[in-house]
Amino acid sequence: MRVLSGIQPSGALHIGNYFAMMRPMIKYQEENELFCFIVNYHALTTVQDKNRLAQGTMDAILDFLALGLDPERSIFYVQADVPEVCELTWILNNHTSMGLLERATSYKDKIAKGFIPHAGLFEYPVLMAADILLYQAHIVPVGRDQKQHLEMTRDIAIKFNNTYGETFVLPEARIEDDSAVIPGIDGQKMSKSYDNTLNIFADEKNLRKKIMSIVTDSTPVEMPKNPDKCNLYALLSLFLNQNEKKELADRYLAGGLGYGKVKQELFERMWEYFTPHRRKREQLTQNIGAIRDIMKRGAEKARQAAFPTLQQVRDRVGLNY
Ligand code: ADP
Ligand code: TRP
Repeated sequence: MRVLSGIQPSGALHIGNYFAMMRPMIKYQEENELFCFIVNYHALTTVQDKNRLAQGTMDAILDFLALGLDPERSIFYVQADVPEVCELTWILNNHTSMGLLERATSYKDKIAKGFIPHAGLFEYPVLMAADILLYQAHIVPVGRDQKQHLEMTRDIAIKFNNTYGETFVLPEARIEDDSAVIPGIDGQKMSKSYDNTLNIFADEKNLRKKIMSIVTDSTPVEMPKNPDKCNLYALLSLFLNQNEKKELADRYLAGGLGYGKVKQELFERMWEYFTPHRRKREQLTQNIGAIRDIMKRGAEKARQAAFPTLQQVRDRVGLNY
């Protein structure tokens, strides 16, 4: 199976990204052909600051490598290092109705949040479709918020296949049940754009401060508490096995458990979980030249994989004469 997914370098990566997308991707590399990439063209729709975009891209690369992505086993690259994706985007644009894009909830959400409604933001799903279709991916691991984008990708591919004959594989979203929507410290969906994240590689002081500010209800310590309605429970659960989750739920239901204690446990678990990766990341940071070489090789491999599809598409639509 060809498994593919990308992540935006639009801010520090957080545990929502990790459990929903990064960890599954790293697992998939064991038995599949994996395409993993940093979508800097997509990030340009909201990050319009040279240093922030460039640094965010390098940080996301380091994060992935430190968390265990193996660039020898997988094809790991930066989206804009394979600019052919823009050519496919342009071709797909001409087979994508305005109505389809107008229904995109992510576009409407971003406008509601005050982002400038420029063409890039509107086009975002077509570029994402090109990312996926260019490599003929079968499976796309994502969080639930990306489900609609995957449906749009399939719609665009079906339309193209119907017009010109079978060209694209129809990809499927793969959404993990227990990490489909991970809450942020304010109880909304955790997101880089809501300032409510627990960052994978936050420093100790900062992480502690963030965890201590997780919003909980005002049930007194001695009273029983409902684990299913508690975002703190949901966050700590990410780091627990089935038995530990059950034990924690029992402690909630029994009463006498303060949220401060649970926050302390979350801090310890999360800090410990990422400790080996933090060390690896520090090592990687010592040799950025080697990282650039890795990404260059990744882009070459991706470009080779993209070439036959792009040629076929150019041919089918009549760009080759
Ligand atoms: P963000 O919303 O923080 O900007 P991205 O849009 O870059 O994150 O998402 C990268 C990947 O992580 C996507 O597959 C997305 O679905 C997933 N993801 C992001 N936040 C969450 C979350 N809170 N819960 C589950 N999945 C998430
Ligand atoms: N839109 C995705 C997100 O915000 C990122 C993305 C871009 C992506 N291209 C992709 C995800 C291709 C999967 C496949 O998370």
